[in-house]
Amino acid sequence: MSKGPIGIFDSGLGGLVMTKAFRAALPNADFLYLGDTLHVPYGPRSASAILDFTTRAIEQLFEEGCPLVIIACNTASANALRRLQQDYLPHHYPDRRVLGVIVPTLEATIQTGHTRIGLIGTSFTIHSNTYKEELRKVNPAIELSSLATPLLVPLAENDGIKYAKPVLEDYLKPLLKDRIDSLILGCTHYPLFRSLLEEILPAGVDIIGQDIVVPPKLIDYLERHPEISERVTQSGKLRAQLTDVTATYSKIGKQLLGENIEFEKISLK
Ligand code: DGL
Repeated sequence: MSKGPIGIFDSGLGGLVMTKAFRAALPNADFLYLGDTLHVPYGPRSASAILDFTTRAIEQLFEEGCPLVIIACNTASANALRRLQQDYLPHHYPDRRVLGVIVPTLEATIQTGHTRIGLIGTSFTIHSNTYKEELRKVNPAIELSSLATPLLVPLAENDGIKYAKPVLEDYLKPLLKDRIDSLILGCTHYPLFRSLLEEILPAGVDIIGQDIVVPPKLIDYLERHPEISERVTQSGKLRAQLTDVTATYSKIGKQLLGENIEFEKISLK
């Protein structure tokens, strides 16, 4: 049985926001981050490309000994998680686990009593209908108004958050018309827009950030699964791998993580 860090996978750098939150929640656990910066963004890509990249990234993290991998990327979770859990893991890595972010986010949203939920995400995440399908399984009576907001990732990655207010105001009109009581930020990058959203959204609309709601769900999972948590090494270390490393990626990565780190360049097999 392999022992090792918890793997965190994202299409690019946005998952470092989640990594920071996971490390704060589990300060003793070791983490290994893998960002597929060579292929980012996943949002506009085809289902087969996203599944291929995600499977190869998970394999890389398993080869490093991770007993558990979290797919922090909503786009990859929406497309690849079920297939990885049902078809790939049982045949290739039966003693490892892969978790996503969509079901824990929906559970946390419902637990707070919301019934008119709004969702923003990449084009792939929204058009896959995965959030709607998963919500139907948890509570079919709850409504979900969802909206693709494809300009937000490029704005976040190009130092463009200062230009985002009118974009967000325009994007959010249909959701506000639907009188949502909560807004799920269904993409790794979107916590970066939180303070702008707080300015724009009417009082009473709760912003659901995955950096806030998913880490407690991971703690809960590890408590319920000692066979996995016993295999997570505990020296509080973080390593980070990228499939393409540039000076800009290193700078933005360090900013998102809030700590100084050297990014290792790796190639997916
Ligand atoms: N990380 C992706 C997500 O959470 C957004 C970036 C991309 O399009 O690859 O959906």
